[in-house]
Amino acid sequence: MKVKVSADICTGCTLCVQACPEVFSMKDDKAAVYVNVVPEEAEESCRNAAQECPVEAIKIVE
Ligand code: F3S
Repeated sequence: MKVKVSADICTGCTLCVQACPEVFSMKDDKAAVYVNVVPEEAEESCRNAAQECPVEAIKIVE
């Protein structure tokens, strides 16, 4: 599974970093994905992060 953050949409609320720190981190006040492939054990929390993002900036891409 892979995931993307649209930096132009992200408001920097940090919810995704709190929900799934294995995948997301903050960079210049925007969330960034710092893994190429989401580790299997982080897939559920990553999906939760995508759902919880208030502006829907997180997309699961495959
Ligand atoms: Fe940005 Fe959404 Fe995360 S607004 S910081 S991608 S929860």
